[in-house]
Amino acid sequence: MRSVNIGICGLGTVGAGVFNVLGRNSDKINARANCNITVTQVGARRDNANCDTSGVEVSRDIFDVTRHSDVDIIVELIGGTTVALDLVMSALENGKHVVTANKALMAAHGTEIFAVAQSRNLIVAFEAAVAGGIPIIKALREGLSANRINWLAGIINGTTNFILSEMDSKGRDFVDVLEEAQQKGYAEADPTFDVEGIDAAHKLVIMASLAFGLPISLEGIFTDGITRLEPQDVSYARQLGYAIKHLGIARQTAGGIELRVHPTLVPETCLMAGVNGVSNAVMVNADAVGTTLFYGPGAGSEPTASSVIADIVDVARTMGSSPESWVPALGCVPSAFRAKISWIFRI
Ligand code: HSE
Repeated sequence: MRSVNIGICGLGTVGAGVFNVLGRNSDKINARANCNITVTQVGARRDNANCDTSGVEVSRDIFDVTRHSDVDIIVELIGGTTVALDLVMSALENGKHVVTANKALMAAHGTEIFAVAQSRNLIVAFEAAVAGGIPIIKALREGLSANRINWLAGIINGTTNFILSEMDSKGRDFVDVLEEAQQKGYAEADPTFDVEGIDAAHKLVIMASLAFGLPISLEGIFTDGITRLEPQDVSYARQLGYAIKHLGIARQTAGGIELRVHPTLVPETCLMAGVNGVSNAVMVNADAVGTTLFYGPGAGSEPTASSVIADIVDVARTMGSSPESWVPALGCVPSAFRAKISWIFRI
């Protein structure tokens, strides 16, 4: 069998999960990828006690990994939009395919990254950037490709859903639950990204791009977080028959695409109201299929690793074939994107 070599950059919560699951399930993963996938390089500022990297070359300079001749796919798991952008561009310049879990990077620089990748016949895959372990990117890009999508609505930040669920079921204090979410590795390095809705906005624009054939852009999106919610808001909503959920909503309207992220009253009879803890769910309404619902863990080490590795398998299986046969990163070829976008917000 062919060999495909992986360089993992970043050995935090998700990096350790990817390393461990690749090792534990290598027989299944290799059979599905039709090649032997091996981690040959790790780039990390420090070791992670949750994974044993003995036998693998570990570099303290992540750029060593992007330049290494013994690496085919770079897995970017450092987060952020500055060093991560340089890292991804360095990987592409060195002829490596890229797998990333970085929603902030995709939201801010996806368009330029995909353009460079396409010009060099390289793949950039990003399943883990949205909704953790739920394969929503593949569903929107491939599974629903027959449809015109009318709207999608999602609980797409595990940290905020965990906080709201704990406030709701146990009356716990916001700050206390946020600390627990940080300890469990759900929250971003800067947790204001979670609780102010910025992380959800990043994920929403990625999904909207796939759903509506738009370039990725944060322009015009309405964003509100959960920091002003009090426990009594949650309990009053319950008395009225609603759960408060932090939703990202993208909708085709007569005037353009409406994009918004904010706390929402969801009737208890709606399946989304029963999505609790770190779970995410994305509901998609489309003309042919009707309404579909995708549910699962939205954050955490191995759930996110599951999506990262699905991308590694896709890239490992695909690389070497003709680029014309590849599924475009955002579902349709860039020339088919809507030329003019009218982003509007309306309640
Ligand atoms: N901080 C993110 C969340 C991690 O809580 O959903 C997964 O993207």
